[in-house]
Amino acid sequence: MDDLTRTQAVSDAVASLYNTYPFPPEPILDEAPPGYNWRWYWPTVHSFCTGAAPASHKVRVLDAGCGTGVSTEYISHLNPESEVLGIDLSERAIATATQRCQSSRATNVQFRQLSIYDVEQIEGEFDWINCVGVIHHMPDPLRGLQSLATKLAPGGFIHLFVYAAIGRAEISLMQRAIALVQGSQRGDYRDGVQVGRQIFASLPEGNRLKQRERDRWAMENHRDECFADMYVHPQEVDYTLDSLFELIDASSLEFVGFSNPQVWQLDRLLASDPALLNRAKQLPGKDQYRLVELLDPEITHFEWFLARPPYPHFSWDEDAALLAAIPTRNPCMEGWPSQSIFDHNYQITSLDQTEFEFLKACDAHNGPNPEHSQASVADLVGQGRANLELVRQMHQRQLILLEPPQRI
Ligand SMILES: C[S@@+](CC[C@H](N)C(=O)[O-])C[C@H]1O[C@@H](n2cnc3c(N)ncnc32)[C@H](O)[C@@H]1O
Repeated sequence: MDDLTRTQAVSDAVASLYNTYPFPPEPILDEAPPGYNWRWYWPTVHSFCTGAAPASHKVRVLDAGCGTGVSTEYISHLNPESEVLGIDLSERAIATATQRCQSSRATNVQFRQLSIYDVEQIEGEFDWINCVGVIHHMPDPLRGLQSLATKLAPGGFIHLFVYAAIGRAEISLMQRAIALVQGSQRGDYRDGVQVGRQIFASLPEGNRLKQRERDRWAMENHRDECFADMYVHPQEVDYTLDSLFELIDASSLEFVGFSNPQVWQLDRLLASDPALLNRAKQLPGKDQYRLVELLDPEITHFEWFLARPPYPHFSWDEDAALLAAIPTRNPCMEGWPSQSIFDHNYQITSLDQTEFEFLKACDAHNGPNPEHSQASVADLVGQGRANLELVRQMHQRQLILLEPPQRI
């Protein structure tokens, strides 16, 4: 079989899986979905990647491998000024995604059944591409990523998510076991789900694969769509940190950072021994990531942003720049207005009185329905350095977004 025929055969098998079990199997709602994910909101994506809120909210977004359109629907509602396109191999996934967005009246979105390998058929470029849980299911993930890179506008960002090999070791063993039992019936995904469930039911208590499924995945895997996606996939490439960076280095795009940076902090693993932590922190950045990967075998995926240079970077180290910036409250929070809120990562966060007042002032001056004229950081805090440190911390905690004044 030549490469082209193999690629087509694998893509057909993947499409067949998702035509049998469209993913994700979320119910269709008749209104905008509740909540938020900061990775689906352009101002927070832009701020994460550059340090500053974007000059324009009118962006073109591609949800590549959108599945049944859960992320596409969120992106569309959270970014009403954007123009969103969702593409997927699976006809049934696209039909569900279309129905989902029609039902919740997301009007700025379109869908197309198209492979990522064929994105050159789409006109123009995108400011932002979301591609979550997809390229690891392509027969040639690098070619997939390179295809997407050709569609990314200069200064644009792509968010990716792929599986991690170490944290999925038990899943991988079970996938192979199911395939072995299925034999020539591989490709019959309903049979695969049945065989997988039978094996789990038969395994003795305490078996590591059974235990792992029960402790970590059973909640979501009671849905056959999720079980099939995890255990009977015809194509999956799991990454280590090294193979991930080989992929990134070959992509022609620039690594911006992991979009779950807290996971990659050595502090959460070695903080009880400050001397050891300090020694580990002397390692080059990538080795620090490697150490986290080795010490935390619970990591089951990598999620990160890539950029097509050039793109700006705002550090806000200089007081003058910070004082001139226009601060807005990050809308990715729940429970506001209150001094106890869920932050952008859905973590409960307490705001002290000064932070609370600052956020209220941001809303009053720079919110969507301002009661007062626009205000800079200087207008809101005066010239005190101590207050500027607080503003920097609020920015770091993603409680506020900062916009450089010259763009307004
Ligand atoms: C695990 S689902 C992820 C769906 C969605 N991105 C999400 O995170 O909810 C993977 C999706 O990628 C799609 N897919 C796989 N290979 C693809 C390709 N070459 N081009 C377009 N879509 C593809 C599949 O059809 C499937 O719907």
